[in-house]
Amino acid sequence: MQHSSLKILTIVGARPQFIKAAAVSRIARSLEHITEVLVHTGQHYDQNMSDVFFTELDIPKPNYHLGIGSGTHGIQTGKMLGAIEEVLVKEKPDWVLVYGDTNSTLAGALAATKLHIPIAHVEAGLRSFNRKMPEEINRVLTDHAANLLFTPTEVANQNLYKEGIASNLIHLVGDVMYDASLYYVKKAELASHILDSLKLQPQKYILSTIHRAENTDTSDRLTAIIEALSKLSQEILVVLPLHPRTKKILKDLQMLDKIPETLRLIDPVSYYDMILLEKNSKMIVTDSGGIQKEAYFYQVPCITLRDETEWVELVDAGWNHLVAPTSSSEIYQKIKNQMCQPIPSSTNNLYGDGTAASKILEVL
Ligand code: UD1
Ligand code: UDP
Repeated sequence: MQHSSLKILTIVGARPQFIKAAAVSRIARSLEHITEVLVHTGQHYDQNMSDVFFTELDIPKPNYHLGIGSGTHGIQTGKMLGAIEEVLVKEKPDWVLVYGDTNSTLAGALAATKLHIPIAHVEAGLRSFNRKMPEEINRVLTDHAANLLFTPTEVANQNLYKEGIASNLIHLVGDVMYDASLYYVKKAELASHILDSLKLQPQKYILSTIHRAENTDTSDRLTAIIEALSKLSQEILVVLPLHPRTKKILKDLQMLDKIPETLRLIDPVSYYDMILLEKNSKMIVTDSGGIQKEAYFYQVPCITLRDETEWVELVDAGWNHLVAPTSSSEIYQKIKNQMCQPIPSSTNNLYGDGTAASKILEVL
């Protein structure tokens, strides 16, 4: 089929968005009629939170780097809004493409909708139904501003129908993170030496990540999580690549120095290293959205330290278990109990067939 030329402006800014955008951008670059302009808001800026993903995943250098950096929600989102508007006025794209639920997502959607530029939202329709989460507000507002909503699951479609979004705007394409995992896992296996460099043996450690505001910004919850992981680590090594947000708060609470060596805090790792750490772990304990799914992609049981999850199908299928991180003894006990359970029988294709990116570009 003959396609007319198309200019897409992609907005990214935070770690998971680099991975999602890498999957779509790779296919976009293989299509002659598509031009992609890449905008990095600068929400994440440490080398190991940003540049490492561009190099490793072969994402082109952003055409615009806005250098916004950290700030309160209002300041950060507001600065992005103004800076993105300038780029949109100059570039006049046919579509603005935004991913997920961060402040970069919302700023991109707001800037575009005010200029009447159509918005495509990838990972639309996810809901935790907890309006206290900044991510929930970001995704609801972005979905309602979007002109095309690319959903990963049927549950996401149902959420959007219930909010009155017209069904002809919604396209169930699967999950772009699944596309990414299929494409990069082989490369990761060849390139990453993380197990050797950390002297880890497969199945002999638990992998954990903690960064959500609802867990880090309440000292009771963060303390309960760290105490539980510390106790657990006396029995099985726990490896915790530490998000800068969590590191800063642990430092402020003067907790960093009190953590036992068996709870191994390491700097954030590259995507390839993360894939290897995930694949070889006995269990994953996390509050990350992306890592809950990756646990399932690599068939590793997962405990999610949150009150609710957007990825409900993982809980229904027995791959993920929710544990509200309120008491350290309860977290510890639930992880221990779960480690004795058999691995769930495999469920295939909860997140599509690995061609979400191609489907998105076809619809656009
Ligand atoms: C953001 C997203 C969250 C997503 C996460 C992925 C919002 C509201 N939240 O949370 O949904 O799950 O990214 O990782 O958009 N910092 C650094 N260096 C960096 C980046 C951050 O030191 O490169 C520190 C700063 O102290 C900053 C804090 O981390 O204030 C929080 O960063 P921010 O981007 O505001 O939110 P995240 O917690 O990363
Ligand atoms: N990730 C990574 N290195 C790390 C931690 C996470 O490459 O040290 C990857 C992880 O594999 C997943 C994505 O980052 O693909 C998830 O991002 P994060 O947990 O920061 O955000 P969320 O998915 O919760 O929004």
